Amino acid sequence: MPAQKPSIAVLISGRGSNLESLIKNSHQYSVIAVLANNKTAGGLKIASVNGIQTYGFERGEFATLKEQKAAIYSKIRELKPDLVALAGFMQIVEPEFVKEWTGKLINIHPSLLPALPGLDTHHRAVQEKLKVHGCTVHFVDSGVDTGPIIAQASVAVESTDTEDSLAARVLPREHAIYPWVVNSIALKNIKFENGKVIYTKTARAEAAEQDFILPE
Ligand code: GRF
Repeated sequence: MPAQKPSIAVLISGRGSNLESLIKNSHQYSVIAVLANNKTAGGLKIASVNGIQTYGFERGEFATLKEQKAAIYSKIRELKPDLVALAGFMQIVEPEFVKEWTGKLINIHPSLLPALPGLDTHHRAVQEKLKVHGCTVHFVDSGVDTGPIIAQASVAVESTDTEDSLAARVLPREHAIYPWVVNSIALKNIKFENGKVIYTKTARAEAAEQDFILPE
């Protein structure tokens, strides 16, 4: 029997375009479940259409936010994925969960971190007249959009750019870089060891080919 591919669970809150790209490009891993912190997240439909198990956790169905979060975390524990990917998950992940999943919890953020953590990144990039913008995939730690950077893709900002035009150029780069990172982790071409991200030569060569930026 061929060895089973590493499994991932994806956490979303909204439309799920990154989720869709993770599903479509799942060559070395399998997406075993999609969890959302609301039942109307568009990504839940994308998952169902692709035959992936979905779990929606509506805030109103729990007495407190803490209970809602606990239910999400306990489902993930039960599913035992090899990796958990946040893809537009708009809820702060509690430090205990982050600690429990250290090195197995990743996020995609639409800026070149450490620049522009938080929300409205495209708007702020235009307002602040940045010359370059982009996206980052990183391991999650207990800060907001901090944690060891795995890979980044940059996009030049034009003087005529609006928030929307910029977002429209960053998004395809997100769709390319996120599955590349997950496939590379599945192949052990990217590893997390002693708090550091380690790359094989293959990972570095593939990144260079696709114009992804890896830390030294
Ligand atoms: C993406 O821009 C992602 O980087 C950010 O939230 C957005 C989610 O979009 N964290 P989608 O739901 O994947 O389409």
